[in-house]
Order: sequence, then C-alpha cells, then structure tokens
Amino acid sequence: MGNIDWDKMDQNAKPPVTEPERQRFFIAKARGYVKEMEKRLGRPLTAAVTTFGCQMNAKDSEKLKGILGQMGYITGKTEEEADFVIFNTCTVRENANLKVYGRLGSLKSWKKDHPHRMIGLCGCMMQEETVVEKLKKSYRYVDLIFGTHNIFRFAELMAQRFESGEMVIDIWEKADQIVEDLPAERKYSFKSGVNIMFGCNNFCSYCIVPYVRGRERSREPEAIQKEIEELVKDGVAEVMLLGQNVNSYGKTLEHPISFAQLLRRIHEIEGLKRIRFMTSHPKDLSDELIQVMQESPKICRHLHLPVQSGSTRILQKMNRRYTKESYLELVEKIRKAIPDISLTTDIIVGFPGETEEDFQETLDVVRKARYDSAFTFLYSKRTGTPAAVLEEQVEETVMKERFNRLLQEVQTISREVCAVHEGSVQEVLVESVSEQDASMITGRLGNNLLVHFPGNREKIGSLIPVKLTKCMGFYYLGEEN
Ligand code: 5AD
Ligand code: SF4
Repeated sequence: MGNIDWDKMDQNAKPPVTEPERQRFFIAKARGYVKEMEKRLGRPLTAAVTTFGCQMNAKDSEKLKGILGQMGYITGKTEEEADFVIFNTCTVRENANLKVYGRLGSLKSWKKDHPHRMIGLCGCMMQEETVVEKLKKSYRYVDLIFGTHNIFRFAELMAQRFESGEMVIDIWEKADQIVEDLPAERKYSFKSGVNIMFGCNNFCSYCIVPYVRGRERSREPEAIQKEIEELVKDGVAEVMLLGQNVNSYGKTLEHPISFAQLLRRIHEIEGLKRIRFMTSHPKDLSDELIQVMQESPKICRHLHLPVQSGSTRILQKMNRRYTKESYLELVEKIRKAIPDISLTTDIIVGFPGETEEDFQETLDVVRKARYDSAFTFLYSKRTGTPAAVLEEQVEETVMKERFNRLLQEVQTISREVCAVHEGSVQEVLVESVSEQDASMITGRLGNNLLVHFPGNREKIGSLIPVKLTKCMGFYYLGEEN
C-alpha cells in the first residue's frame, strides 16, 4: 500500500469516505502529528503493543503494529521505554481482565512522569459496557479506547486524539464491513495467521465471544487467496487460517462456499508449503473436510477439536449441540480416515452444575480420545452469558481439585502420545535458533510439537526432514535426515 506524505497534501482536504483510502489519509495525518512530536522530543517515537488472549488477537496486533509503523512509531519496545502503549485485550475468562487492570494501574505513574506518553486499549474487553464505564470513571489517564469491530480505524482515532488532546472512545456494536488491504507487521517472516472469518454464531452458554466479536462474517475467498499469495511472495511457507468456527466458513457469503472448498483453493497456491487452521466446532466438522485433509499433503495432520466437557448432560447445558457419544464417534471417524492425525482440545472444568459423575465422563473422553495436548480451563463466570445466572455454581476448591486431576491425566497421555513418533522422520519447519543452545535450531512438526536439532540460522523458514531421535516428554531432540 502506498504511503501518502502529509507535508505534500492539501491539509484542508476532506478525508475520503471509502476504505481503505480513508485510513491511508489518516495514517498520513497521524504521521504529521508524530513528526511534530519527534521534533519536540528530538528523537523518534516508540510504541509497545501487548497482546492478551487468542491467535485472533495476535493477528489483530500485527495489524496495529503495521499501522503504528506507518504512522512513524518504532514498534517492539518494552512498555517502560515506549511513548505509546496499547493493550489488545481479552475477556474470555475473568483473569484476563484482571491482568489488564493491573497493568493499567502500574502505568499511571509512567504517564504522570512523562505526560506526552499515551495509552490505548482495544480488543474484546472494550466491547463490554461495564468495562468502558469503569475506565471512564477510574482510569481517566487512558487516551484511546476502541473495540473489535473498528480496529481498522486505529489511525483515524489516533489523529483524533492528537487533535483533541482528550480521551477518544469509539466502540461499535457490530461490524458493518470487512476492510481489506491495511498494513500489517508480521511477527514471523516464514509463517502467518490469516483471518478467514470473524465473530461467532454459536452462543455456547458460558462464552462471551459472540457478544464481543459479533455475528459470523466470512471474508471473500478471493481476498483470502490474494492475501496468501502475497504472503508467499514475501517468504511465508505456512499459514494458519483463523476463525472461531472455521467449519461454518462461507455460509453467509453472497456466493456460499464451504470451508473444505476454500482449503482446496488455498492448497493450489504455488510456493505455499503448509496449511493449518483453527478452531473446528465438532458439530460442524464435515466428511468433505476429512476428505480434503486426506487428499492434501500441504494440510497439517492436526485438528483442534474443543470438547469442553465429556458429559452429555453438561454439553447440553453448554449449548454445544453434540453428545459424548457423537463426539467420540467423530474422533473415531477422523482417526480411521487419517491415522496419523494429531488431536488437541479445550476443556472447561466446573461448569455450573458439574458433578463428580459429569467430571468422570470428561476424564473418560480424555482417555478415549487420547489427545496430543489439551488446554484446560477453570470455568469463569462471564456476566451477560446465560451460564452466569445458573444456580449451582461449582465451589472453587472442588473445581481446582478436579482441574488438577484432569491436568495429570492429560499430561500422562500427552507424554505417551508424543513418544509414539520417536525414531520416525518428519518434515519440520525451522522456526528459530534454540534458546538454550546456539548450535541447535528449533523446528515445528505438522502436529505442532517442537524438535531441537543441530543446525544454523540459515535454515530458518525452510521445511526439512528430521529424524526424531528422542522424545523429551513434550518435545523432541533430533537430527537432520
Ligand atoms: N470459562 C472458562 N473457559 C472458557 N472458554 C471460553 N469461555 C470460557 C469461560 N467462561 C474456553 C473454551 C474455549 C477457549 C478458547 O476458552 O474452552 O474453547
Ligand atoms: Fe465461544 Fe462457542 Fe463461539 Fe467458541 S464456538 S467462540 S466457545 S461461543
């Protein structure tokens, strides 16, 4: 995307009404303000972006960094030394919220000492009215607040903040458009997340995501394809297709297409080496998807298939729309079709009304599905969700005790599953020089596990066969084959 130079522009010109032209205008305008401040301070301005939560947020933060870079900020600084700090927040569990308030509190004196410093807040937490009320009342020193639907307007809001000198708040209840072609600064040169859809329509009863990320919207397949082609030209070997529920991709498009069809199109992209995706809702996982995975060597043999609970009774209360039996049947079908598949999951412990018997059902699913790994969560009550008003909230000590038992089971099985691949040769995407030993490099297997083996940094970004000589529990040691 071409940059506009603010100094050479008609400064009284009206901003364009269409996107992304409008944002390019405001990037240039904000760049003008940044330059003024640079002159005043006698040095370049710096920014720190802190990300909480999931891969969607990580991707959004890359967009924030891209825009910050074009506004003239040097990114990648620590919060302490930056002139602008932005928190891209998560609200899926309460402790994510608490962390943000904690960090904000400690920034109060940081800002008092240097009043030119600015604080921005965005992401899921900002979509909650009570949060914004609290910020307005008790955190007056925050400069900029926006939500999940208007992240593309970051530059416009920054320009507004520079002009007014006052707190700018812009929260949209829903998204009316998907803005393409804005800048992004990638964390890795060789792999990238790619949004294929936004929002969620499932309304699992514990989950706040549908309220803060809005209804499901899919990107046009052509736009996705174009983005990936450009990424590949830029050296990307692996893409992770991102959506809350990728299996319902494309259903709401003017010309509907299935997720499996999208995968087929992406698989054709020359130069792309690996395709990953997450998250798959078990209720929507189609036979067509299993077939495409079987037929497409670029698609990693990995499925993240959140089960949440093993008890049909609890699953029903969670509004998950599958049973323990149907989930296990699906697992069996997938394993039969793709024997080397790696399965991972999310599990919530302590959903309201969960009894010891319900919990035993969860342990039973864990033993039967034999996950490569599982993310385990303590149930967290989210105001506004149907589950929050259910009576019989599970006592914390009971919840924690169950959580520990579950973790032990999950880890025991993970170790066993991991060891199965010992001795085999697998394709590995080299990601970095090993943190522990500079003569070793670290690569990622298709199943997401890491392997450390002798090598140098020139291999970063390439896909090479590696023999997994020793399983170390949750990672391997290996050697190039
Ligand atoms: N409490 C605990 N875990 C939750 N998750 C979503 N909402 C909650 C909640 N209220 C978990 C689910 C989901 C993952 C991203 O976060 O397991 O799959
Ligand atoms: Fe939340 Fe369920 Fe949607 Fe996942 S599928 S984001 S758990 S509502």
